[in-house]
Amino acid sequence: MSQATNQSWGGRFSEPTDAFVARFTASVSFDQRLAGQDIQGSIAHATMLARVGVLSDEERDSIIDGLTEIQGEIERGEFEWSVPLEDVHMNIEARLTQKIGITGKKLHTGRSRNDQVATDIRLFMRDAIDSIDAELMRLREGMIGLAEREADTIMPGFTHLQTAQPVTFGHHLLAWQEMLARDHERLLDTRKRVNVMPLGAAALAGTTYPIDRHVTAELLGFSRPAENSLDAVSDRDFAIEFASFASILLMHLSRMSEELVLWTSAQFDFIDLPDRFCTGSSIMPQKKNPDVPELVRGKTGRVYGHLMSLLTLMKSQPLAYNKDNQEDKEPLFDTVDTVLDCLKAFADMVPAIEPKKESMFEAARRGFSTATDLADYLVRRGVAFRDAHEIVGQSVAFGLKEKKDLSEMTLEELQQFSDTIEADVFEVLTLEGSVAARNHIGGTAPDQVRAAASRALEALKAHREAP
Ligand code: ARG
Repeated sequence: MSQATNQSWGGRFSEPTDAFVARFTASVSFDQRLAGQDIQGSIAHATMLARVGVLSDEERDSIIDGLTEIQGEIERGEFEWSVPLEDVHMNIEARLTQKIGITGKKLHTGRSRNDQVATDIRLFMRDAIDSIDAELMRLREGMIGLAEREADTIMPGFTHLQTAQPVTFGHHLLAWQEMLARDHERLLDTRKRVNVMPLGAAALAGTTYPIDRHVTAELLGFSRPAENSLDAVSDRDFAIEFASFASILLMHLSRMSEELVLWTSAQFDFIDLPDRFCTGSSIMPQKKNPDVPELVRGKTGRVYGHLMSLLTLMKSQPLAYNKDNQEDKEPLFDTVDTVLDCLKAFADMVPAIEPKKESMFEAARRGFSTATDLADYLVRRGVAFRDAHEIVGQSVAFGLKEKKDLSEMTLEELQQFSDTIEADVFEVLTLEGSVAARNHIGGTAPDQVRAAASRALEALKAHREAP
């Protein structure tokens, strides 16, 4: 057999693989990242094979020792990856045989690269999900902490990016936190479907050896063996689900980033981001740019792209395994890396946000943000809502002309528009009165924000302590 023909399957071939084809079909340049999971899966497989009598205990021990040594070689950067050996699986197996001889060739009994690679990716995804879980927890905790500290801080709330009604900054932050709580739920829900074991499906139909898939599943911490061998080797739903989770998360982080970018501008001037999260300009010495949120906003694009890649990769694939599936790894790896980096950036940055309280307060005061409160005041005194709306509209028009907020007008000025208005109106026209009045669950009143923050912290604590 020619040197250039792959030794794992070269038996039936009469000429070596074309050099370009070897490079084109190889995945080792990127799937070597799965080496740890590949070895973990192989050790469990060999352990199970010995348990059911397909391998002797000596053979099992020799395989496990060899794989453990290979793990060390890889970790120390001594392992020589070979492109002609195509992928991570065959590189490791070839090295094992080089080390322990013929026993190394027995490892693949009752297994195929098809169930092997599906298992490796699921193990990888499970670890990735657990790291993302921890980072999401850290971000949510920091966000809730800031919301609690800023429960009394008043800022304008917007619709159509026009000043609408005053809200508290803590309330705004807890809106972000709700988005992340849903993302977190989606992540953990995805984990359930990731944590199912393909091993034992072999190439597509199962295997003739007396394997015990429950043993392997337990050794690897999977909740159960996959039900159907054809589905087990071909299913990548979990990858698509993960990319969907990631896309929605990045969409949320991008929205938050956009607000942070706006708020740091001189025009808004609502917050300061510490210098360590910003960079300068090489030409304009005065500049301090919010690069970190901008980059998170920008990275959303590649994650959406990966979701599209994976969906398109899977569409039209007939059962069972097809080589197309090799294309799942790069988008998945990049999605995991991007999500972890963006979450880290946010988890570090959010607790360090410095609100410029006076500037936020001023902005809320400028935009007639208590106009609805004046209308509600009139309604409580028997004026029909439509009439109240008209009266307040005229008051705002007057304020625009006189450059005065509603709360800055005298009682006489306000009474030009309705004699129902009395001195107690100023309680509702202040920003503090306006936010405090929205005092129900989900409302922006500082007391509600504090209560919501403590509920959110409780929920996080319950998640952390869950088994
Ligand atoms: N490198 C392949 C992948 O990533 C491993 C499985 C190959 N199986 C096969 N029958 N060619 O999907």
